[in-house]
Amino acid sequence: MSKRAADFAPNRKDLNPIEVASRDEISALQLRRMKWSLKHAYENVAHYRKAFDAAGAHPDDLKDLSDLRKFPLTSKDDLRANYPYGMFAVPMDKIVRIHASSGTTGKPTVVGYTRLDIRTWADVCARSIYASGGRAGMKIHNAYGYGLFTGGLGVHYGAEKLGCVTIPVSGGMTERQVRLIADFAPDIITVTPSYMLAILDEFRAQGVDPRSCSLKIGIFGAEPWTNAMRAEIEDAFDMHAVDIYGLSEVMGPGVANECVETKDGLHIWEDHFYPEVIDPATGDVLPEGERGELVFTSLTKEAMPVIRYRTRDLTRLLPGTARTMRRMEKITGRSDDMMIVRGVNVFPTQIEELILRDERLSPHFVIELKREERLDTMTVKVEARPGADDASRAASSKDLAHQIKALIGVSAVVETTAPGAIERSLGKAKRIVDLRGKN
Ligand code: DLL
Repeated sequence: MSKRAADFAPNRKDLNPIEVASRDEISALQLRRMKWSLKHAYENVAHYRKAFDAAGAHPDDLKDLSDLRKFPLTSKDDLRANYPYGMFAVPMDKIVRIHASSGTTGKPTVVGYTRLDIRTWADVCARSIYASGGRAGMKIHNAYGYGLFTGGLGVHYGAEKLGCVTIPVSGGMTERQVRLIADFAPDIITVTPSYMLAILDEFRAQGVDPRSCSLKIGIFGAEPWTNAMRAEIEDAFDMHAVDIYGLSEVMGPGVANECVETKDGLHIWEDHFYPEVIDPATGDVLPEGERGELVFTSLTKEAMPVIRYRTRDLTRLLPGTARTMRRMEKITGRSDDMMIVRGVNVFPTQIEELILRDERLSPHFVIELKREERLDTMTVKVEARPGADDASRAASSKDLAHQIKALIGVSAVVETTAPGAIERSLGKAKRIVDLRGKN
């Protein structure tokens, strides 16, 4: 198979029939499973029993999928309040795995899995890799971190289930990443898009042409990234870049994935995860197609069912294309990452898009927020591409500041730095450094 082969179209016999079932079949399955999941949560998790009772909602009230909106939303704070095991719905002797999300402040969020949950997770990850163009027999270089983070082990089990040769590299040791890609000749890499850029730097530092390497497909997720970033990576490596989404609380990677043949948003594996989009301010469910906060209800999870869990991720729901399951648009950002600078809402992805329109600038950037004389100031520090002189750097700073003002509507100071000046991430990139209140 050539790298350029546009034809990764799925072989229908390899798909789970539910991926291409009719909407009626999908809804019927969801309703059956949702009834089970609500009852399971209500009967086995004190938090859900209390919250449902307080809202006057009983699992028997669910007659139709739209009745779900009668049930209360669940937030990360609810999970924290029940740290570490309070949200588990099965006794500890049924739990075979625990993961936790780091969380920048406070306690981490702990999640548990039964043997069946692990099997379901492997299934949805295998399905995600297949949708990305992966096939049995291909080699996968898995550079998502192994450990409490769900990325490494989640993708690992999915890759093995699909029958891929799974190479558990984990994150970090960038020089070694490049050497292993050259020596083991993987077809697929799974990694955060920002760490892929660090790997790209290292290819160049070692004088190895990234376009000549064996990689055909990259499955990128765990952080927001734009279509402009996709174009950057696809061009640099001569590979397909596909988006994978998930979160620990709902399962881990493999909640939704793009199909390589369309790359038009991520199909949500709706037979296991039921999506809604709400207005983050009021909590009201928004009609399909409107942008808001993504909310998930697990339909099959045993160890830790989640009912109407608020992801804080902002997107919208769209009808299916390459699969009948609905899509979510590429995520714009998290509500926590939204910067309000002098009253204007700004997401790092908007800045990323503008940076990548300028050929003089590299995709390495960080946004610093400060408060000076009670006014918020935003400084974008971005690296020049190699070879830029002082004059070109000054000119690109001025142009980017102008673009940010004209297209986003906020004043920013732009500093174009020398290549290599911005710290590289080994996993999820930290795009915002908020120094407000610290100066
Ligand atoms: O990041 C799971 C994962 C691992 C997904 C590997 C994909 C690949 P958490 O650490 O719990 O789990 O973080 C979840 O990361 O709520 C989003 O804000 C963000 N996120 C994950 N995937 C994407 C994506 C993993 N494709 C949080 N695009 C989520 C944008 C993403 N943001």
